[in-house]
Amino acid sequence: MIKTAILNVTTIEPRLKHPTIFEHFDALEGGESFIILNDHDPRPLYYQLLGERGNIFTWEYLESGPEWWRVNIAKTGGQSKQETVGEIAAADMRKAEVFKKLGIDFCCGGKVSLKDAAATVGLSEDALRDELAKSETQGNVSVHLDFNGWDISFLADYIKNIHHGYIREFGPIIEQLANKVASRHGNESPELVALAKNTHDFMADLYQHIEKEEELLFPITKDLASLEEEEINRIIHELEHEHEDAGAELVNFRKITSDYALPAHACNSYSYLYDRMKAFEQDLFQHIHLENNILFPKVIDLCREQLHVN
Ligand SMILES: [Fe+2]
Ligand SMILES: [Fe+2]
Repeated sequence: MIKTAILNVTTIEPRLKHPTIFEHFDALEGGESFIILNDHDPRPLYYQLLGERGNIFTWEYLESGPEWWRVNIAKTGGQSKQETVGEIAAADMRKAEVFKKLGIDFCCGGKVSLKDAAATVGLSEDALRDELAKSETQGNVSVHLDFNGWDISFLADYIKNIHHGYIREFGPIIEQLANKVASRHGNESPELVALAKNTHDFMADLYQHIEKEEELLFPITKDLASLEEEEINRIIHELEHEHEDAGAELVNFRKITSDYALPAHACNSYSYLYDRMKAFEQDLFQHIHLENNILFPKVIDLCREQLHVN
């Protein structure tokens, strides 16, 4: 393992500078650090590291020019604190991908330890940690958006435009399709009747849920002075509870449809309905992940900071 107390960046060939720094960073265990020495402010590296590795490090200037800049870079996530699956996914999108690949729920059920999450998919905690560690060496996450580094009001706008917009666009389409397919195939496949009924209830709850977020919570991200801890905690608790209900309903849909298995007599609408429902599920998982693991904790933190200032 590479361990260097001080890395003098000025002695490294320009094209190798960033890869070398990343190599050193990746070799760190949680809680370890190294210092970079440079002849100009290495701030661009901070953003590159944040974008490609996520919010898993601290950045501290020990010297800020005019001739030399020294920055201590420490990797967070030492053994002191037991992180939840949701926190790990929020901090590093590569790890979220590992959870997704293994079928570990990191959004609706993200508030569990690694050990408990590993058990849900029949893995040991060590095996899961190995998978996560491997992901750290697999390139960067620049293809992903750095949600964790975003300003919360920007993130709230993104969720509203992308994910709430998705529900408003595809929710009614799915409801219509579910009706159509149930009336056509309900005799041979009675589960379709139950699916259509549950889909209407599910969508009705979701439409109300996103309205509530847009009315009660998202405006707060633009007007921090309006924060009131008790009220915010109550709202967020309620929203998280609704997320759990939505997650449970998605599991139920999979049960009713035997994991969206199509029978031989399925027509195009039947198959399109299942495709749309699977896509809807994916979008909702990502949506809930962004809220439960990134937006809500940040709103709560800001609320606490606000209290300290006042
Ligand atoms: Fe939402
Ligand atoms: Fe939500």
